[in-house]
Amino acid sequence: MKITRFVFGVILATLVLTGVPAFAEQTADDAVVDPGPTLYERLGGGEGVQKIIDHTISLHLENPTIKHRMEGVDLDYLAASVAAFLSAGTGGPNNYTGPDMATAHAGMMLSNEEFDAAVADVLAAVMGNVDDGQAEHDEVQAILLSFRDQVVGK
Ligand code: HEM
Repeated sequence: MKITRFVFGVILATLVLTGVPAFAEQTADDAVVDPGPTLYERLGGGEGVQKIIDHTISLHLENPTIKHRMEGVDLDYLAASVAAFLSAGTGGPNNYTGPDMATAHAGMMLSNEEFDAAVADVLAAVMGNVDDGQAEHDEVQAILLSFRDQVVGK
């Protein structure tokens, strides 16, 4: 019995002197871990996002797969609306007031090829506007690809 109590005492003392404080400290540190800048911030904030979308639209106008889709479209409105959409989806302010993606593209019967061409333009614009932007490229890609079913074939 005495030995058991002694062993228990030693374990308790060890925990108090070493393990418990270390554990407590680590938990406190974990609780205040800085998540780092949002994707929106890493894209350059409002100004950066607008530059990326302006660049994207200029690429769309040159892109043989989709340039015909831009005919007759109010490109200033489109640029502002898509920038607001991207801002809202990347952790920036949510000023998007347009329709959901299925409604925005209703009646266009967009193909997967057109969808991929449009996404490729956005990603090229990300790489062109963000220094060392591979991580941002991959994150924007994942976001955009999640909209395929809402955009294609509507
Ligand atoms: C992830 C893919 C896409 C996203 C996130 C997206 C996003 C948007 C947004 C936010 C709008 C504005 C809606 C509004 O405010 O009325 C819009 C409109 C438009 N999108 Fe997309 N789009 C995508 C794919 C495409 C593709 C593949 C095309 C054509 C190749 C396309 C062509 C257009 C056109 C022409 C409009 C303007 C329609 C109109 O004048 O009413 N979009 N898109």
